[in-house]
Amino acid sequence: MITQRPRRLRKSSAVLDLVAETHLRADDFIVPLFVVEGTGKTEPISSMPDYHRHSLDTLLQRIEKLMNKGLFNYVLFAKIGDGQKDNTGENACDPDGLFPFAIRKIKEAFPEITLFTDIALDPYSTFGHDGIVRDGKIVNDETVEALCRMSLNHAQAGADFVAPSDMMDGRVGAIRQALDRQGFTDTGILAYSAKYASCFYGPFRDALDSAPGFGDKRSYQMDIRNSREALRETLLDVAEGADMVMVKPAGSYLDVISKLKAEVHVPVAAYQVSGEYSMIKAAAERGWLNEDKAIIETLTAIKRAGADVILTYFAEKAMEILKLGN
Ligand code: PBG
Repeated sequence: MITQRPRRLRKSSAVLDLVAETHLRADDFIVPLFVVEGTGKTEPISSMPDYHRHSLDTLLQRIEKLMNKGLFNYVLFAKIGDGQKDNTGENACDPDGLFPFAIRKIKEAFPEITLFTDIALDPYSTFGHDGIVRDGKIVNDETVEALCRMSLNHAQAGADFVAPSDMMDGRVGAIRQALDRQGFTDTGILAYSAKYASCFYGPFRDALDSAPGFGDKRSYQMDIRNSREALRETLLDVAEGADMVMVKPAGSYLDVISKLKAEVHVPVAAYQVSGEYSMIKAAAERGWLNEDKAIIETLTAIKRAGADVILTYFAEKAMEILKLGN
């Protein structure tokens, strides 16, 4: 005699919905945005089908459209010209640079949105590394000083949260102090805490033209083989003052997301990165996967693992599929 029949709870869509443990909502998402110099530009990114880099004017139009759909959280990245790159990332600290200019204009136009800004030197670096290079090595403390100046530059322009993605030691505490000293006590820090040295960032590096010129990022990003180290990195960031922490990439690191969720008491974000996006797009283009279902399944898994916040290039699409928002 079978007495336990879990299938009763899968009897109809109504019952399935009633007992579902995980629900995606508009408020889960942070939408990544890429800004470039110029006007009237909506540039395709070859390795990220249907995703674009925008000049400020078309970016503002894009944000307005996304806001009308119910998306209010954004993370901004800037692509600057090769001529503006150097080893120390001076342009990242220039108050008249593209990035702070875009932050100012976006917050002026849409004060109600939350704007996160990426803090790392790679898009500004002739070497394509997140830090300053000396004798072929990425130097920590000098980089942290540059990251503090970059963070102040973004805070002054109106960033709500700075998001250090560089994985240098001690940068969260140093950035917190630098912000506080200048009176930016309300500017938050979303720390990329468990950021792995992953191959899944490939398409993003095309988007920003920021691939490392030599070597790889394994001397600062985390070893893909480790998970206790993720906890160590994250606890350090929390102790140093991070308001939120992040696991990145998301889909291949669900174990890390759930581990951090159980151990820390700040919101845990997860970044479904460019390669995770492009894998689904590529398989769907070939008719090998149902794109909509793959989007919802991967995002649901990330949330089920424990993510409180999800950074994803699929935010708009997910809203459409789930008929969320307006
Ligand atoms: C910059 C940065 C990267 C990503 C976010 N911030 C690239 C890298 O570390 O090489 C990756 C995002 C993505 O792949 O979607 N440090």
